[in-house]
Formats: sequence, C-alpha cells, structure tokens
Amino acid sequence: MIEQWRRKRDILTALAGELFVSGEELAKQAGISRTAISKHIDSLEDYGVEIFSVKGKGYKLANPVSLIDEDKLTHSLNHRCFYFDELPSTNAFLLQHVDELTSGDICIAEYQSAGRGRRGRSWVSPYGCHLYCSMYWKLQHGMSQASGLSLVVACSLVKVLQSFGIEDLGVKWPNDIYLNNKKLAGVLIEMSGQADSECHLVVGIGINISMSQSQGDKIDQAWSDLSANPSCPSKTELAIALQKQLHQDFSTFERLGLTAFLARWQEVDVFFGKEVKLLMGDNQIQGICKGVDESGAILLETDNGIKAFVGGEISLRSTS
Ligand code: ATP
Ligand code: BTN
Repeated sequence: MIEQWRRKRDILTALAGELFVSGEELAKQAGISRTAISKHIDSLEDYGVEIFSVKGKGYKLANPVSLIDEDKLTHSLNHRCFYFDELPSTNAFLLQHVDELTSGDICIAEYQSAGRGRRGRSWVSPYGCHLYCSMYWKLQHGMSQASGLSLVVACSLVKVLQSFGIEDLGVKWPNDIYLNNKKLAGVLIEMSGQADSECHLVVGIGINISMSQSQGDKIDQAWSDLSANPSCPSKTELAIALQKQLHQDFSTFERLGLTAFLARWQEVDVFFGKEVKLLMGDNQIQGICKGVDESGAILLETDNGIKAFVGGEISLRSTS
C-alpha cells in the first residue's frame, strides 16, 4: 500500500471514536509531526471526508468511515478482487482490463475521482464513505443478450440488502434502488466488444453507506444512505454478499432470461400502478406504469392502450 494511504488510514482509525482527538495525540501515535498530521487531515478533506476541527479539542469525523477488510474480502471470494484506495472509476478500471478478466472478477475502490452515472452524469464518491464496486461478466452471444440485465442487477441488490434485514426498499426502472423513496444505490452497465458475438460487460454499483451533509449537498435529487439503519452490514460483508448474489443471478439469467426475475421486480417496483412520465430527449409521455415485460421494457398505459418502451436514453419520473 502506498505510504501516504497507510498514514491516512491510521489517522481515520484513530478518529473512529466518539471523542475528539488532539493533533498532538495523533502525531504521537503516528510518529510524525503535527504539521504532517494537519496536511493529511486537509488532504482527507479534499478526498471528501468531512472532519470537525475544534481549537483546543482536536479532530473528529463528522460521519463514520468504514474501509474494506481486504484479507476477508479476498479469502471469501472464489474470484479476483482488485482493491484500491483511489481510482478514477471502478468501471473504467475493469473496462481497461477486459482481456485479462474472467466472469465474476470484481474491482472496489474507496474513492473515485471520476465516478460515473448514466449518460455522463457523475456519481458522488467520497473516500471510505460508500461502496463503489464493479463486476466483470463475459456474454457469449453479444450485446443483445444484455437487454434486461440492468433489472436483474437491481433485483440482486434488493435481495442482498433484504438478507441483512433492510426494509422499505424499492426499485425504479431501469435500475435505481430506493430506500424510503430516496435514491440509495445506482447501477451503471457498460459494454465493449461485438454486437453479435462475445462481448464484455462491466456492471458498476454504488451504494450509499454514510453520506456527510456536505457531500449530500452535491446531489441534485433526494438520496438516502444506510447509516441510521440498525441492520447496516459492514462494507466488506455487503461486497461479498453482492458478488455472490450477482454471480448466481447472472448464471440464472443466462439460462432462463428475465422471466425468472419478473415476480421479484414487481414486488418492489416503486411506480407500479402509479401515474408517471417517461422523458426521452425533448419528448415526454405520460401514463400509468404497468410494470415491465420479459425483455425489460417498461409498460405504460395511455389512452392508446399499453405500450412498451426501452432504451438507455429514457428517464422515468413521477408526475406528482
Ligand atoms: P435516470 O437515469 O432514470 O434519469 P437518475 O436521475 O437517478 O435516473 P442516474 O444517471 O441514474 O440519474 O444517476 C445519476 C444521478 O444520481 C446524478 O445526476 C445525481 O442526481 C445522483 N447521484 C449522484 N451521486 C449520488 C449518490 N452517491 N447517491 C445518490 N444519488 C447520487
Ligand atoms: C446511476 O445511478 O447513474 C449509476 C451510478 C453507478 C455508480 C457506480 S460506483 C461504482 C461504479 N463505478 C463508476 O464509475 N460508476 C459505478
């Protein structure tokens, strides 16, 4: 591990308690000067960690920061896990290495400098606060096979969170996860390769664990996190369970298609039976959401009957 990250991790561990810790105490524990401690604290803030600093008292984390236990992670999985303190994006990392990967390999980073969402949007990714994880999967029969897969990922995520006792979850087509009607997690699927033969799939998942106020202010929609939830698992347990569930569900999807997941989707579909609008570039269409079909298209009932809509450029919004 790079020395500067080892130091920062030690400082975060020392600040994990309820009480303020003085700069002098931190310097003594780390065997470095108070000036060096203060530089590390400034740098951690640049990485999105919110730290209270009070003259005469010292420092304290505004929100808990939890780091992956790399040993536990690698020993619990039968696949490779590439783990970093910082990366531009875990999706970008796997896409750069597709030729060396096998289905089920994952990449996790504690911080993303260019975390990405759908359609060029950015994903807020402060150090240590949330889970940023991507998994590689090879599709033998081309990109068309991937249609509907984003719904499978959403179903996998919900199942994993429920298995830890987290309730009040929902999904928004095609693949957002909601907790108490606010966005908890997002999924970004990216592909490279051939349209009709072997192609590479990278499935990126961001789950909010503990958002600070200043980071949350950067998000332009209602968000939620798991911090106040008594059932919140450790980030390592969450990552392990997620990799296993995705592996199992992708194998099922390859054998049986989306049909095997439709009941699971409908159980947690936030907008089923509700009035919604679909935004498609400059156009929008309003109707009642009737769930999804076996290709993963959203079904909308209008005065002209029920029509299916599909495509990465469509955004679903509530009308209320
Ligand atoms: P849609 O894709 O249906 O338009 P969306 O508005 O959620 O849904 P996405 O592209 O899926 O858009 O997600 C990116 C958006 O998610 C950002 O524009 C921002 O509003 C929000 N966002 C960014 N980071 C986070 C985060 N850590 N937690 C929750 N929401 C976030
Ligand atoms: C969305 O809702 O727009 C999708 C957000 C996906 C974020 C995750 S975090 C891990 C992976 N790496 C990225 O750069 N994006 C995805």
